Amino acid sequence: MRTHYCNEINKTLVDHEVKICGWVNRIRHHGKVVFINLRDREGIVQVVIEEDQQKLFDIATKIHNEYVLSVEGRVRQRPEGLVNYEMETGEVEIVASKLNVLAKSEALPFNLDEYQEANDELRLKYRYLDLRRKEAGEKLVFRSKLIKKIHNYFDSLNFIEIDTPILTKTTPEGARDFLVPSRNFKGEFYALPQSPQVFKQLLMAAGFDRYYQIAKCFRDEDLRSDRQLEFTQLDVELSFTNEKEIINIHSELLQKLFLQLLNVDLPNPIPQITFKEAMEKYGSDKPDLRIPLELTDIADLVRDSEFSVFTEAASKSEHRVTALKLPKGASLSRKQLDGYTEFVKIYGLKGLAYIKINDRSQGLDGLQSSILKFLTADIVENILTRTNANTGDIVFFAADKTDTVNEAFGALRIKLGHDHGLVAHGWHPLWVVDFPMFTKTDTGWTFTHHPFTMPSNTNPDEVIANPSSVMARAYDLVLNGTELGGGSMRIDNHPMQMAVFKVIGISEQLAHERFGHLLEAFKYGYPPEGGIALGIDRLAMLMTGAKSIREVIAFPKTQNGICPLVQAPSEVDKGQLAELGIKIISDSADNKI
Ligand code: AMO
Ligand code: AMP
Repeated sequence: MRTHYCNEINKTLVDHEVKICGWVNRIRHHGKVVFINLRDREGIVQVVIEEDQQKLFDIATKIHNEYVLSVEGRVRQRPEGLVNYEMETGEVEIVASKLNVLAKSEALPFNLDEYQEANDELRLKYRYLDLRRKEAGEKLVFRSKLIKKIHNYFDSLNFIEIDTPILTKTTPEGARDFLVPSRNFKGEFYALPQSPQVFKQLLMAAGFDRYYQIAKCFRDEDLRSDRQLEFTQLDVELSFTNEKEIINIHSELLQKLFLQLLNVDLPNPIPQITFKEAMEKYGSDKPDLRIPLELTDIADLVRDSEFSVFTEAASKSEHRVTALKLPKGASLSRKQLDGYTEFVKIYGLKGLAYIKINDRSQGLDGLQSSILKFLTADIVENILTRTNANTGDIVFFAADKTDTVNEAFGALRIKLGHDHGLVAHGWHPLWVVDFPMFTKTDTGWTFTHHPFTMPSNTNPDEVIANPSSVMARAYDLVLNGTELGGGSMRIDNHPMQMAVFKVIGISEQLAHERFGHLLEAFKYGYPPEGGIALGIDRLAMLMTGAKSIREVIAFPKTQNGICPLVQAPSEVDKGQLAELGIKIISDSADNKI
């Protein structure tokens, strides 16, 4: 039906007959000529219908935007003054000799040129129309290329691609499971995988020592711009390996993808920092290194001051007193400062003390702050020296529980960076290593990565006796402040796995119920192994400059987890529920079926 995509029509085809198909992007009637910009997935070309083609001319008068046409005609060079340099095909046009309307179109629910005026929900309801926009469609094309390159890379390294089940059992990655009721076993459920974690480990037990998969994962968690309920991982596992090899393979992957797809040279090697250093300097385990602001601890300097907020935090364990300098921030207005105070309060900080350095040469007289009255000249001098603060700068302070300070100042650091134009261009990947194995909760301990991560240099008894000091053989890959991936070396034996379960409150019985399959595999020759998973949607989002991962997913869910296109989730009919043995209990606790 066609000889070329629209974008392929160029000067080399002048005087050739071509056939194209596509949608009417725009139609203009100019007296005795009609111009149609015809669009297909690759581009747009101008079709001209001249008055000597009376039959085509009559058809054209009834054509509107988004009609689907097939056109045959001869390519013609446009006269000099009529070349459109903004169009890829702007030097030529097709003089139509045949024109067929393949499908008509009603006026679209929103105008593709003014799509920003349509709300997100409407655009997702008509996602297939939104995807007709070049910038929207291009992101999916990019994603396709990205995934092809990933396949090529892992092929070249002799990895084997294996699918793992979607209807399965709980695979804990820190979110809620999506459950699927079983018809044959009423009251029993499959869980959709939060990741292929346990299966890929079992593939190592099977001897496939290099596995990868482009895997769908499902997590019932609150959505954000970089999170969806279902998403895609590049999931990888290797036996007879170590952290260094896994980090190298994935550093090289990232470097190749950036070079081949964006012509960008990433740093080589990709820098590594420890979790401890990341938290101390940036208050985050996924620091955005494009922002040149850092936290500087000052507990030792203010321990003996008169400011109780500082002294209390400075004397308690698991508390932190830290400073954050914003160069040239002394000119911030009262209103701006109040705004930042409100901002840190969202994260639980009770206030936001600061010192403005109006003139460093004038000692205390050159400073402006509500906390100066509590601090001696020496203390202030030491703080300014340590933070390297100079005339024109402002230094913010946080004193509270370490977690609160990190959350608040980690976020403030990013906000200040964006508000004051301090975000550098370019790409700043890094590996974060040496994570703690466990994270404290209100009631005990949970895993920092997942419960199959191998603790470093320890034994099961020590893990149980002293969870707070156990480190994990885990690593995360971070790019411009987004966590792209994470992985670890895995526990490969029963006693260590049971010790970790014990710390996180999974009893022996529950462990066997939930993970008996893995515990059993340890008995039959289980190799030392490790792996990683990278979020493909997040990688595609960053590489295409998208603001949300929704833009790189063909049919994403809204922030509320709804698909407005197919109207999911939706009620199902009573017969289906009865077959599954399910009764719906409404909020008011009335049973309705
Ligand atoms: P983790 O839970 O860190 O590790 O997930 C790996 C990567 O998957 C992406 N990701 C998401 N992307 C979009 N929406 C979500 N809701 C979402 N959740 C996670 C992130 C993240 O870094 N089994 C382990 C990996 C391993 O140890 O091998 C795992 O799933 O980019
Ligand atoms: P106050 O003496 O209570 O007025 O506090 C003096 C300054 O300290 C104010 O600017 C408060 O916003 C700030 N402040 C209060 N609590 C904290 C805290 N936990 N960390 C940092 N600054 C704080």
